[in-house]
Amino acid sequence: MLYKKRMNAMKRYLFLVVALLASLAGAYAKNYPEWLDRAVFYQIYPSSYMDSDGNGIGDIPGITLKLDYIKSIGVTAIWLNPVYESGWMDGGYDVIDYYKVDPRFGTNTDMVKLISEAHKRGIKVIMDLVAGHTSNQNAWFLQSMEEDPNQRYSDYYIWTDEISEKDKADIVERYRQPNPQSSTIGNFVEKNAPRAKYYFKNYYEAQPALNYGFANPDPNHPWEQPIDAPGPKAVWQELQNIMVFWFDKGADGFRVDMAQSLIKNDEGHRLTSEKWKSLTAWIHEHYPENVLLAEWSDPEISLPAGFDIDFFLPWRSATGYTKLILPEPYGKHATNYFNLAGKGEVREFVDYYSRTVKTLSQYGYMAPQTSNHDVQRPNILTRNTIDQLKVAITFFLTLKSIPFIYYGDEIGMKYNPDAPEKEGSCEVFSSGFVNERSGSRTPMQWTNGKNAGFSTCEPENLFLPVDTDNGALTVETQDADPNSLLNYVRKILALRQDSPAMSNTGDWEYVSDPDQPYPMVYKRFAGDEFYLIALNPSGKKVTTTFPTLGRARAIPFSTVGKATFNSGKTTDKLTLNPVTAVIYRLEK
Ligand code: NOJ
Repeated sequence: MLYKKRMNAMKRYLFLVVALLASLAGAYAKNYPEWLDRAVFYQIYPSSYMDSDGNGIGDIPGITLKLDYIKSIGVTAIWLNPVYESGWMDGGYDVIDYYKVDPRFGTNTDMVKLISEAHKRGIKVIMDLVAGHTSNQNAWFLQSMEEDPNQRYSDYYIWTDEISEKDKADIVERYRQPNPQSSTIGNFVEKNAPRAKYYFKNYYEAQPALNYGFANPDPNHPWEQPIDAPGPKAVWQELQNIMVFWFDKGADGFRVDMAQSLIKNDEGHRLTSEKWKSLTAWIHEHYPENVLLAEWSDPEISLPAGFDIDFFLPWRSATGYTKLILPEPYGKHATNYFNLAGKGEVREFVDYYSRTVKTLSQYGYMAPQTSNHDVQRPNILTRNTIDQLKVAITFFLTLKSIPFIYYGDEIGMKYNPDAPEKEGSCEVFSSGFVNERSGSRTPMQWTNGKNAGFSTCEPENLFLPVDTDNGALTVETQDADPNSLLNYVRKILALRQDSPAMSNTGDWEYVSDPDQPYPMVYKRFAGDEFYLIALNPSGKKVTTTFPTLGRARAIPFSTVGKATFNSGKTTDKLTLNPVTAVIYRLEK
């Protein structure tokens, strides 16, 4: 008997030890810095945020001036679009010098000051690494054009003298570009440089692709070097050097532009992710608190490749996100889930997200963005009331993901369809669709004064026109209004910080029937804490039922519109008026 008792005690003890070890292992199994578990990002397009010197263009000291405001929103990190010296043919994504802040934004010293002032307030700063291409004015490119094919920069880019007639047809087909220009054959631009006749561009002509080599180089294509050729190897090293330079100045990470596109002809991105794996491992070893964000939108590849965050991007449909959020240029506006028409779909997103939030949680996070510098803001066309915007933003801020708020979306700034083309903002798709990105890059609206407080310059000198037709959409007005979008955002972000269930680590599960997309109902939970989020952006009153969650008390944390929740023995029932969002805390 005594022996049996001892054995049981021993088993219990062993079980406890194993459980403790497992939970310790679990805690350490995360492959990303812990601060991401509470992170919320704010994206700033530097030309448009705050002009400190009155020349009409935003700058880095301007951002520094606004750090207390940024902190007040409840975000914990900033991502800055490129601030480097640029040819400004693609909004800064054509870099002339990665080691130098563009004079229009200030100096490297200003950047260091921004980072240190942000750090004093507990805010991290992430920069943008334009990895795939440079400006055609970059010194690397200029030297690469020189006659001697064996000097240091010769193979930093993809050059060729010869393209056979057959290859021309293939290349045009393979690299069909959204911006057809007469001097290009597919992506090859005729340059007639001493080095060779053509170079390979990535996007605009002014953006020659850096040479990371080709998967399975074709011996008949002299421009296709293997990935371990000296040129590609040197270019990877340059990426590391750039990151180290800014890390040593205090930067907390990088968002990597077109991270998936570096090695050409790489089916499934197998080689590209292998290469990223070794670079991210090096970064994580030497800068364990720093993070890398991929512009990739395929987290099942990018996160195991060592990225800490990947974005949901509307142009990669596999995540189901496109169908949910599809903005105007990519198709039919009416089918965006968050429109009054109520014609959206959620099934693909729910299936994808339910699977990946579980399987990928040890690697890092997916990130939904309220919008960004490439897509339309939520405030567009008939989606223009504060309640509609509140419903949409509730979705972005309550997932088990790292939310990214694009500057100005916290006050509901409008997408301006009439904003003029600026610095390569106009993107023409092969479908013929024109994406005028400047409409999402207009100056931040601070006050009800001149130029909405963005700049003291004369209005005709503004980087882009300020939206002045609606005094409601400024920080000044919304700060003072308890029902404003800004204060709604602050309230939800404060909850994300206070509540383990609502934070990035809390669990997420879809509750309503994904084939009846309105309302969208999901739960967030951790330990005893349990929240239910229900959204109805449509113009119709909607009801849904689901197997009971067994929680009798539903305490509204926040409500937009009107909702009722009835918990039954076997079934719960939720009814939401048109344009309604509710966050309930559910108790037993
Ligand atoms: C993605 C960036 O977000 C976009 O603004 C840019 O034009 C392209 N990459 C090319 O760098």
